[in-house]
Amino acid sequence: MVDVQTSDAVRTKSASLAPLLSVQNLEAWYGESHILHGVDFDVKAGEVVTLLGRNGAGKTTTLKAVMGIIGKRSGSVRFEEREIIRTSSDRIARMGIAFCPEERGIFASLDVRENLLLPPAVRNGGLSLDQIFELFPNLRERLASQGTKLSGGEQQMLAIGRILRTGARFLMLDEPTEGLAPVIIQQIGHTIKRLKNEGFTILLVEQNFRFAATVADRYYIVEHGRIIDGFANAELQSNMDKLHTYLGV
Ligand SMILES: Nc1ncnc2c1ncn2[C@@H]1O[C@H](COP(=O)(O)OP(=O)(O)OP(=O)(O)O)[C@@H](O)[C@H]1O
Ligand SMILES: [Mg+2]
Repeated sequence: MVDVQTSDAVRTKSASLAPLLSVQNLEAWYGESHILHGVDFDVKAGEVVTLLGRNGAGKTTTLKAVMGIIGKRSGSVRFEEREIIRTSSDRIARMGIAFCPEERGIFASLDVRENLLLPPAVRNGGLSLDQIFELFPNLRERLASQGTKLSGGEQQMLAIGRILRTGARFLMLDEPTEGLAPVIIQQIGHTIKRLKNEGFTILLVEQNFRFAATVADRYYIVEHGRIIDGFANAELQSNMDKLHTYLGV
């Protein structure tokens, strides 16, 4: 009896250890430009994984290739153990993957409420507007402000809040702290930790590894369209010299 329960528990545990996202030999092109040359990494459910790398290394392209918003891609992208390399970006979104782009994509002519309501819900369980305002109180105060009137920090909060409404549980955030004041960066950090605690899985692109170190479970280094190294947050200190070399900082 006890044995059966134990083996069931072991089975459940090992099933839950399968990566939520598994990327293998991913190649991607913009037109004739071959940008990704066999990217390999995975993200387990509940993790915050950060892609680090120099400008032009292929970090954004990797997120776009996972999302299916790139001219051509090949290799394997498995989400919840299903192959999505030939799946349209629409359907990928409906499977519960959300992408928050570097340029944030806030519509200038729409106000905060309209921007929040814009992306369609893809699944049940998305955050309500009240839950989003609880995460980002500034947004409630700016509800009727047009996109153009928002600060960079408010735009970033709106861009993250907007994808939380959709019900996606796997979030890809491209440089969410870029150009923001330290106090706002701290708030974004708190939000990422809170989302992780609530069971979201997050793939983050960051140039700012001091920020990344406050939220990430693991890192991968992207260089010339490949993953050249990876390590856990606990190994960060012992990898600092290498990291400085990789990032040129
Ligand atoms: N739309 C595009 N068409 C053609 N080439 C592109 C396009 N977007 C990016 N590239 C090229 O692809 C390569 C990888 O770019 P990518 O934006 O993925 O880099 P990144 O690691 O995100 O850099 P950054 O840190 O500057 O955001 C670069 O050489 C870039 O010039
Ligand atoms: Mg980029």
